[in-house]
Amino acid sequence: MPLQTQTPPFIQLHHEDRAAMRAELVAGLLETPANIAPKFLYDALGSRLFDAITELPEYYPTRTEAAIFQQHGADMARVVPGGSILLDLGAGSCAKAARLFPVLRPAAYVAIDISVDYLRDTLQQLQKQHPALAMLGLGMDFSSRFALGADVADWLADGPAAQAPRVVFYPGSSIGNFNPKEALALLKQAHAVCRSGGQGGGLLIGVDRVKPQAVLEPAYDDALGVTAAFNRNLLLNVNRVLGADFAPTAWRHVGLFNARLSRIEMHLEATAQQTVRWPDGERMFAQGERLHTESSYKWQPEAFEALLQDAGFGRARHWSDAQGWFSVFWAPA
Ligand code: AVI
Repeated sequence: MPLQTQTPPFIQLHHEDRAAMRAELVAGLLETPANIAPKFLYDALGSRLFDAITELPEYYPTRTEAAIFQQHGADMARVVPGGSILLDLGAGSCAKAARLFPVLRPAAYVAIDISVDYLRDTLQQLQKQHPALAMLGLGMDFSSRFALGADVADWLADGPAAQAPRVVFYPGSSIGNFNPKEALALLKQAHAVCRSGGQGGGLLIGVDRVKPQAVLEPAYDDALGVTAAFNRNLLLNVNRVLGADFAPTAWRHVGLFNARLSRIEMHLEATAQQTVRWPDGERMFAQGERLHTESSYKWQPEAFEALLQDAGFGRARHWSDAQGWFSVFWAPA
């Protein structure tokens, strides 16, 4: 693991399979109710629209989580081991992890996102600001499987932090975009990664909590219509990937809280009967018929603690805001 380098290494493990993406889209479009996986929300424009969402007054998770780190960072540093290898899941701009460097003092930083292209510029800048911190950019689709492959193991084994504890950092309540079964599978994989390093590793994760519908629904259906644009932009992405002919103006954004399943659901609702076509296929949508595009599960802290235990972690602790809207959990491996 090279130290003092100005250009961090990058390893791309995920390779986009367009044929598989098209097959997945067609399968979802032909189901009843029709659905499209939320990953199709995040093309270049969708990622920018999501960044805009995080600045909306109604979208409380981002700023609430940031305030928890700000207020309780020193306390967290008492239980999260220093000198660790910090593995940042869905790193994006790396900003959340970078803010924690002075508090957690990692020995190495591994930024993980689906593509190293998203990470390259940011990580190069970050390396200049932290020249003594070993950094690696890792392109991986951890949502289908999270495991450190042989190349990463070699990079880790090659440096002074080889035996350091592994801390998996998963902020933003992105775990909420997995259903409970999928979340458990990902947490089990995260547990195995934490256990593969030195003693003391664990998971630091942001989790959005159950709260009144009057707070939840505007966060996913804001007054400016940014979340609506984010949702409808998915149709433009599907048109590009699949060669479909969705007309975004013929679809209405719906964001609602399903209390029984403890999740926000985002749908697109057909405003008139229409037939959507793509090469070798089509589907008729009746007026009012919905296309499910995303779920965002909201957790009670006790239920999330139980999930962490089922995944193999030890007794977790968590820090919250005064209203109890969001929690950051530390789960020792
Ligand atoms: C990325 N994820 C945690 C966001 C959420 O709150 O579930 C995605 C999002 N969808 C609409 N607004 C934000």
